[in-house]
Amino acid sequence: MTDPASRAPRAAAVPRSARVTGWGMYAPQTVLTNTFLEDLVETSDDWIRSRTGIGERRVAAPWESTATLAAVAGRRAIAVSGLDPDEIDMVMVATCTPDYQLPATAAVVTEALGTRRAAAMDVGAVCSGFVYAYATAHAYVMSGLARHVVVIGAEVMSRILDFSDRNTCVLFGDGAGAVVLSASDEPGGGLLGVELTADASGAYKIWIPSGGSRDPNQVGSRLLYMDGRETYRYATRTLASSALAAVAKAGLTPDDITLVVPHQANLRIIEAVTKQLSIPMERVFLNLDRYGNTSAASVPLALAEAVDTGRVHPGDRLAFVAFGSGYTSGAIVLEWTADPAAGARAASIEPTAAISDPPDWPEVDPTPPELRPLFAAVRRPDETRS
Ligand code: ACO
Repeated sequence: MTDPASRAPRAAAVPRSARVTGWGMYAPQTVLTNTFLEDLVETSDDWIRSRTGIGERRVAAPWESTATLAAVAGRRAIAVSGLDPDEIDMVMVATCTPDYQLPATAAVVTEALGTRRAAAMDVGAVCSGFVYAYATAHAYVMSGLARHVVVIGAEVMSRILDFSDRNTCVLFGDGAGAVVLSASDEPGGGLLGVELTADASGAYKIWIPSGGSRDPNQVGSRLLYMDGRETYRYATRTLASSALAAVAKAGLTPDDITLVVPHQANLRIIEAVTKQLSIPMERVFLNLDRYGNTSAASVPLALAEAVDTGRVHPGDRLAFVAFGSGYTSGAIVLEWTADPAAGARAASIEPTAAISDPPDWPEVDPTPPELRPLFAAVRRPDETRS
């Protein structure tokens, strides 16, 4: 039997900062275009592009799940950090599309990450989830409870969408992004300011009624409902105030921010918010044209792409801003310290993750029927689930 003490996060000296030492992303191969959606609902490529900025998004293959997406992004982040998986003290997965009601998806992911002594937990703040998880991991590291935490945002939104509802099905995509947050004895760097909020008045503006303890037998819908107009109003207001609060707590002004990495929900929301902050769009990283809104995966996926495409340098001040269901919002200001060249280490990590199926797991295709034609000619790679 494993000694429980050896599984607990290592107590450590209190560090001087908690810095990003690894980053990684994974987007499923299959592309869902706006044109394909034109055949499912009354919409058009032109409407979607002009009202949201989204050109296409990715969809997880039938053999993929939130855990497998999370595992690929997490393995890439660990590879970039140069750490051995056994040095990881905790794995956090921010998601609103867990593989199962329980266990936590983070616990499932540890198998593929090879982290034998890490604690594992999920963070539920929907689209703000990664920002919430990053802040939590920062607190863990700075308190000395953990030295290295893998923070992952991962979603398979395609499995909770109603493909007859044009208000929602055009917006979301699947993907994962991750960072490793590590204790450092160097002062400065890492998180400089954070602001997290929640507003219960919006609790039922983006929600899934059934499947939880209020409706375990799924009498109501198990698919995502959203009041888009109200959410738009909330987002433009709250993102700006959260960002300003985090910037002020960092002792900075918006002028000091080198790059904003926003939740990739809607280009018009991002433009409205950065205008309120007086930050020009050249200092905003965007990839929603290719991935849509990937919920909790959105910020870390964008961050990994920003670093790997040369948009982030040591000494840069970054701002993450996100909002989402629960009417949560989160903003983080941090100073980047890692060498972007380390991103090349992720190249050795295959885009597949070996995670065991539960015993007697039936062969089910979790893909919504409307999307199955996308996978007609897609072959399953050899090394996936066992
Ligand atoms: N194609 C064509 N027409 C559409 C579509 C579509 N895909 N979707 C909505 N419309 C229609 C509406 O039905 C409405 O028609 P009507 O006037 O006949 O009633 C018309 O377009 C205008 O509707 P609005 O809601 O005013 O459209 P808007 O310009 O606000 O754009 C959108 C809608 C894109 C949903 C926008 O409101 C938005 O982005 N809201 C925020 C949503 C968001 O970011 N959510 C993320 C939360 S993340 C999370 O926590 C899961």
